[in-house]
Amino acid sequence: MFRFKPILHPHDPKELPYWIPWLGHLVRFTKNSFSLLQEGRRYFGNTGEPFALTIAGQSLYVVTSAKDIEELYRNKSTLSWEGFVQDLYRWIGFSDNAVKKLWQPPTEHAKTSNPVRVLSPNEMVAEYQRRQLRPGKNLESLAKSMIKHIDDLLRWQNLDVGQTRVLPCSDQWLTLSLIDWTSHTFIRSTTEAYWGKKLFEIDPDLLQTYNIWERTSWKYVFQIPRLFSQDMYNARDKLVDAFTAYFRLPQAERAETAWFVPIAEAEMRDIGLGERDLGRAHMLQHWAINGNMHKVTFWIMAHLLHRPALLEAIRKETAPGVVDDTPNIPYLLENCPRLEAIYHEVLRLQMSNSLMRHVTAPTTLGGKVLQENRNVLMPYRLLHYDEEVWGANASIFDPDRFLLRKELARDPNYRPFGGGQHMCPGRFVAKQAIFAFIALTFSRFDVCLQSDEKAGGSREHSHNCGFNRHFPRAEDLKPGLATLGPREGDEVLVRCSPRIKV
Ligand code: HEM
Repeated sequence: MFRFKPILHPHDPKELPYWIPWLGHLVRFTKNSFSLLQEGRRYFGNTGEPFALTIAGQSLYVVTSAKDIEELYRNKSTLSWEGFVQDLYRWIGFSDNAVKKLWQPPTEHAKTSNPVRVLSPNEMVAEYQRRQLRPGKNLESLAKSMIKHIDDLLRWQNLDVGQTRVLPCSDQWLTLSLIDWTSHTFIRSTTEAYWGKKLFEIDPDLLQTYNIWERTSWKYVFQIPRLFSQDMYNARDKLVDAFTAYFRLPQAERAETAWFVPIAEAEMRDIGLGERDLGRAHMLQHWAINGNMHKVTFWIMAHLLHRPALLEAIRKETAPGVVDDTPNIPYLLENCPRLEAIYHEVLRLQMSNSLMRHVTAPTTLGGKVLQENRNVLMPYRLLHYDEEVWGANASIFDPDRFLLRKELARDPNYRPFGGGQHMCPGRFVAKQAIFAFIALTFSRFDVCLQSDEKAGGSREHSHNCGFNRHFPRAEDLKPGLATLGPREGDEVLVRCSPRIKV
């Protein structure tokens, strides 16, 4: 068993022992990363000290205490988000030269042509995204557009449009796969609000390809050898192709975009990058934007569908937030404490394991020295499931947890949106869009779990009897970067009909 490093380097984070050189923890990490991380923390006495894993020849540090994570956010000099983003850029095909151009400080010429340009081109793009998403007129117009698309897709006549699978229906009701429904609604709405309709004209299968990418993107983040990752590479390349074709069109043909898209495009064209690199960068932006909302909504809906009394309470609470069939967002945000508590509880339970930073110079953290050129994992899921913080029922959904203790939403052990300078800028629009989906759904439709009998024998999934009987399990076996989806095969089928208002 490999465990001799600490003797040679006593201040290095200790390595969790493993059996096979080079492979290290790869197999366990890809089979059940959460249990491996839990075991790591237990192995080192639950002290929260940083430890190390070896994944396919690469050493990876794991930081498990809220205090060290806070410290990690504060340290901008030797722990870098940029290093991790540069890796993401290189892995998607940016040349070293392109990466260099993206990270170089603005030239005097660049500053003269655009006085707001005070950062490197890549940081400017990130800054534009923050300006798009922070409260103000850019956010208002994006949120308005997203919610308008959600509103359209949640009309009875549109409910089954774009659903990839045909499930039982009649004039009065239809059956939807909950994850297909939420992913179609959110990804379509957000993609159109940012890039307009053109992307779907270029690639009508964009949504399906994106879903494959999402299921396999952990292989990209952890650089799993191509032999085991062809599905991920195929999806990645198809998405990059679609965005590249999009940027090859004259701007006049893709005029209906969010403020961010053309300004970010100009920044990259200005340093001589072409459509392929634009395609790569926007494919990654699209992923950051779309990785969470549909899954958060899936879990909220799944919990409510499995608890009809709670569903009715949320229907009642959100009802005054829909006026003339239109969501009143300020009302929903201010006056729905039960929904808000469920939103936080879902974010707590379904946050995945990992977010990364890159060590650029030896760094002392939690009494250990992190060596340069390694990545650091911040497994928020471990914080979110810590029984010392959340109590003995930490792993159980408790709709009242955040209702009774509102201060938990500000606890340093609760990190659904990360923290520090790179804290998710999309958190404001995400909450608006998710609350709009819930309020509109319950105001327009009667929804319940489809029972096996109602599904009939002709259903595509009839071999999988037993759907909906158990609550779906989260896909926490694979390492991920964002909110977890349901495990493949853990289907939630929803029976939906127009609401008869009494
Ligand atoms: C409930 C939904 C969401 C969750 C849980 C979530 C979570 C996160 C997390 C954990 C990070 C990383 C922060 C870090 O490393 O410290 C992040 C980053 C980011 N998110 Fe979100 N996100 C959500 C929705 C959105 C939406 C709707 C958008 C855009 C419309 C968005 C755009 C971004 C961007 C651009 C970044 C990178 C920030 C940077 O580079 O500084 N997110 N998000």
